[in-house]
Amino acid sequence: MKIKNPLDMHLHLRDEAMLKLVAPFSAKDFRAGVIMPNLIPPLTNLEQLRAYKERITSLCENANFTPLMTLFFKDYEAKFLELARAEIFAIKLYPAGITTNSANGVANFDLKNLASTLNAMSELEIPLLVHGETNDFVMDREAKFAPIYEALAQNFPRLKIVMEHITTKTLCDLLEKYENLYATITLHHLLLTLDDVVGGKMQPHLFCKPIAKRYEDKQALCKLAFSGYEKAMFGSDSAPHSKNDKECCGCAAGIFSAPVALSVLAELFSKHSNEANLQKFISDNACAIHKLEFSKEKIITLKEEKWQVPQNYGEVVPFMAGSELKFKVSAT
Ligand code: DOR
Ligand code: ZN
Repeated sequence: MKIKNPLDMHLHLRDEAMLKLVAPFSAKDFRAGVIMPNLIPPLTNLEQLRAYKERITSLCENANFTPLMTLFFKDYEAKFLELARAEIFAIKLYPAGITTNSANGVANFDLKNLASTLNAMSELEIPLLVHGETNDFVMDREAKFAPIYEALAQNFPRLKIVMEHITTKTLCDLLEKYENLYATITLHHLLLTLDDVVGGKMQPHLFCKPIAKRYEDKQALCKLAFSGYEKAMFGSDSAPHSKNDKECCGCAAGIFSAPVALSVLAELFSKHSNEANLQKFISDNACAIHKLEFSKEKIITLKEEKWQVPQNYGEVVPFMAGSELKFKVSAT
């Protein structure tokens, strides 16, 4: 199986020692990744963003990997955004306190407060990426955010809005209702329901935000991904935390899937779909939606060859640790 220019449209690379550990996995397998800005402090200015990009690229030399940088959403002046436009791919909005390092996110979704930044973004064609969850009961948080997505889509019709890591049938259905709504889907949400996380012994390495939902939600996500549906893009949300931070009281949310993502997707699509739809899900849809072009191609070959996922990479336990996978990335 061959994939051209695989893209990870939602990726956490962290910083310092963790960045050094995890960046090579994404750089090896993907042509580009949309890099999340939820560092401490969050990325809100160009000096920080340039320095972070430089730290990423210095770890990915010779890998033909482009980090597509994002800023953390806040009230930005139009003048600043005009300057930033050339250096950023998008702006990522987090509701305040909803997930890892989101304390500085948006606390009030009264659109009047957000309008000047969102209007400037529309004007400058800067996409808005959204972590769509409210503070409601944990299984309802994403569906309860749907009216906010609708209000955003209606009030800012020229703004490209990406509903990140969608986990519910409710949001799958919303894609059909608004032209300017798009979505990313993770690997783990194509595989898991809440049962896998807490139905038996609790599985901290499967704990993430938004939490995996019901069987019918997973089915709706699989239907979009496996059909190559043009508004759905792959975004791993690979989010590494140390084993200590996962296997403790107060487990951090996040699943480190970068080292297995392509291999598991190849297995899933060979079983439930086909290579052409995988190519759409993992690259072509995103290229069409965001008008992305890559001068230097990256072709990934996946061979049918069994391998076992290690129990850990350094201090991080990967998704599917210990499992036997059927496809191996053989050449880039
Ligand atoms: O599970 C998650 N982990 N969800 C997020 O939204 C953030 C991420 C992280 O940064 O660890
Ligand atoms: Zn994320």
